[in-house]
Amino acid sequence: MITIVGAGIVGSEVAYSILQDTLGDVVLIDLQADLARGEALDMMQAAPAIEFDGTVRGSGDFKEMEGSELVIVMVGQARKPNMTRIDLMNVNAKIIRSIVKEAAHYAPDCKLMIVTNPVDIMTYIARKESGLPKNRVFGMGNILDTMRFRTYIAQELGVSREDTQALVIGEHGDSMVPLTEYACVSGIPIANLLSKEKIDNIIHRTITSGANVIKLKGATIYAPAAVIALTADAVIKDRKRVMSVSTCPSGEYGCSDFSIGVPAVIGKDGVERIVELKLSAESQQRLEKSQNAIRQAIAQLQP
Ligand code: 2OP
Repeated sequence: MITIVGAGIVGSEVAYSILQDTLGDVVLIDLQADLARGEALDMMQAAPAIEFDGTVRGSGDFKEMEGSELVIVMVGQARKPNMTRIDLMNVNAKIIRSIVKEAAHYAPDCKLMIVTNPVDIMTYIARKESGLPKNRVFGMGNILDTMRFRTYIAQELGVSREDTQALVIGEHGDSMVPLTEYACVSGIPIANLLSKEKIDNIIHRTITSGANVIKLKGATIYAPAAVIALTADAVIKDRKRVMSVSTCPSGEYGCSDFSIGVPAVIGKDGVERIVELKLSAESQQRLEKSQNAIRQAIAQLQP
């Protein structure tokens, strides 16, 4: 069973994607219990059309998450135009602290996926407050950045996104690190296909993607929802996908005291292994800036 805490637009979009992928039964939990119940009822009525034979329930009671294999937390304030994700930190920290304790209490064996921003800080808080093992607490951030990076590379080259592979690590925020040295199209490094100027432009578009969508329509919905469902699929079906998730390394990439986006093998045990890469001097420098941005934000966390 998969619990989604937060029955807003993105939470409901994720729930519906999970049903369409027949990943398992879904519980939608929201303090607005009627919203959660209404979304679930609406989706149940779609079930025959999408050939989903399981159940989807809505509730305002955290007890309903009992026995969940995966708990996805996406409640909290979202960015408005001209805000950074870090601006949301203290207001969302209070929410995350209380919710992850409920998750650890009612679903002590779950994998806990954090979506609430700033996701690296919220994942760090979730890891500490839930007491769950490191591998079972991770945040969805750089996977989304990676999809955007892939989209813009493929668009610039006029090639299939499927053949375009890439990785973004670091903060899911303004200091993220698109790894150009590992970006390729069918194994061909993008440096062989694009000028430095074009690559720099793609990096800029990747970093500002979320803010650009928010400026136009107020919130990002489809991209985060699709990526969250993809990550849920990797866990539930034990896919061993190599994805960049926010997690608390144990010294990898020089990090051990906070959560940051790093490439990891994602499967039934959550973050099963962190993949350490040799970085170019430029990427290493960017990653250190990213680490500092997260450290500085954590230092300003209110208790
Ligand atoms: C985004 O970049 C919500 O942080 C998420 O769309």
